[in-house]
Amino acid sequence: QPSEEEIRPVVQAHLHLEGPLLPILHDLQARFGFIPEAATRVMAEALNLSVAEVIGVISFYHDFRKAPAGRHVLKLCRAEACQSVGSDALAASLLGKLGVDWHGTTPDGRITVEPVYCLGLCACGPALMLDGVGHGRVDAPGAIAILEEAGV
Ligand code: FES
Repeated sequence: QPSEEEIRPVVQAHLHLEGPLLPILHDLQARFGFIPEAATRVMAEALNLSVAEVIGVISFYHDFRKAPAGRHVLKLCRAEACQSVGSDALAASLLGKLGVDWHGTTPDGRITVEPVYCLGLCACGPALMLDGVGHGRVDAPGAIAILEEAGV
């Protein structure tokens, strides 16, 4: 976990902006790969917010991670078009196989699974994205094949 000394300059760099909280959060995640726990205190202090308010914002946006991600990141689309063609069953099967819940990382740090709300592949759902590469019309065996091919 990065220290407050490492976090403070990142927070300071955005304080001149109007509505600095989201730019700060994006910058923290870009630098550290997740939002460090100590950052909630630093942000609350700098922005005159309560820690609960900062945590509320972090939780509202699905993209912010509270812990470092695994070596691979699998994003499964949970939006309507994919849902209508079976994304729920696909997600249940993959989460079960990997033994994690949403936002979870396997104990060996191999992979993190995150929900995403549309990948722009609605016409060919269910869609997923592995390490930034999108795949459409994925069923459970197809997803396993994609994971295996990526060495997950
Ligand atoms: Fe899944 Fe758009 S709804 S990609």
